[in-house]
Amino acid sequence: MNKRTVANLAPAEMKGRRALVRVDFNVPLGEGGAVTDDTRIRAAIPTLQLLIKGGARVVLCSHLGRPKGGPDPKYSLAPVAKRLRELLGRPVTFCPSVVGTDAEAATKALNDGDVLLVENTRFEKGEEKNDAALAEAMAKLGDFYVNDAFGSAHRAHSSTEAVAKLMHPAVAGLLIEKELEYLGNALDRPKRPFVAILGGSKISGKIDVIDALLPKVDALLIGGAMACTFFKAMGFETGASLVEPDRVDMAKALVERAGSVLILPHDAIVAPTVAEGAKARAVKRDQIPATEAMLDIGPETAASYARAILSAKTAVWNGPMGVFETPPFDTGTNTIAQAMAEASAKGCTTVVGGGDSAAAVEAAGLAAKMSHVSTGGGASLEFLEGKVLPGVAALDDRI
Ligand code: 3PG
Repeated sequence: MNKRTVANLAPAEMKGRRALVRVDFNVPLGEGGAVTDDTRIRAAIPTLQLLIKGGARVVLCSHLGRPKGGPDPKYSLAPVAKRLRELLGRPVTFCPSVVGTDAEAATKALNDGDVLLVENTRFEKGEEKNDAALAEAMAKLGDFYVNDAFGSAHRAHSSTEAVAKLMHPAVAGLLIEKELEYLGNALDRPKRPFVAILGGSKISGKIDVIDALLPKVDALLIGGAMACTFFKAMGFETGASLVEPDRVDMAKALVERAGSVLILPHDAIVAPTVAEGAKARAVKRDQIPATEAMLDIGPETAASYARAILSAKTAVWNGPMGVFETPPFDTGTNTIAQAMAEASAKGCTTVVGGGDSAAAVEAAGLAAKMSHVSTGGGASLEFLEGKVLPGVAALDDRI
């Protein structure tokens, strides 16, 4: 990576100095506000431990959810502070404001190695506007800046971009470094064969990544409802499946341009509705009934995709193959997850993009078997699309 990281800081740059650390603690909260998936909190721990060990005074900031129009208790980071305390095994002070006199005073009361978490950055109206005045107020919370929020690196917000330009040093955390290493190596130096698996419901959200991956991969396997937009372009009946009519021409052009690299499902699991899962059955892709919808890839497709993954040396996966939250439409997604796990064991580098595919791998208990499961859904997608991530671009270059 061409950016300075927290591991490159000299001892004197850390000890006794306040580190403003942007993390992505945008985690799901359940009934009563408890954290139901702490993956992103755990992913930040190595950076926090490095800073604590180096005697820095750690000031954490993050967004949580998408609160509209100011503070909303349902999006408070207080429950996250509780979980972080448990994971770090040390006190974590929670500050109910994001910036301002009280927050600044709280940062100044810290001793070496102490940890403070300020409230949800999106409680400040300027955050998502990348507001300069808010960034200035944030910069007063630390003596240097660390961004370890890979999941938010595609957002140019005050806490990810504007503030990084005001503080020095401004370095990447260990999580960002690891994410960029896995995703970057897969794209730039893949061991071949290089197979990418893309799923999800909409071709519109994946078109840029398909375009970016096509020249790099040996095979691009398509699953999820977005396959139906391709089927429509091929003149097949798609029944009640989710199709994006305004993307059919685009799908047609892609099929023509991609040639044999782009691989579409041969068969599909169909049912009248998701709720009528008991009536699910496999049909050939050109046999989707007019009254039913494709809700998963079929067994032949799942088996051939699994074979392709097992013969790969690099496999990158983003997006589920069907309605994986609702059995039996999780079979295709689980088959891919299993094949990725087996491929890892055979020496293939397996990278799972964040969001739904990461959730599916986690639910299948296979996350630990992958080379890397990204903590960023939108961020990993934008990286795979070849876009610049503003939260990374704003950091100090490695000299
Ligand atoms: C995510 O969950 O993808 C990140 O935390 C970014 O959240 P956002 O999409 O609300 O900006």
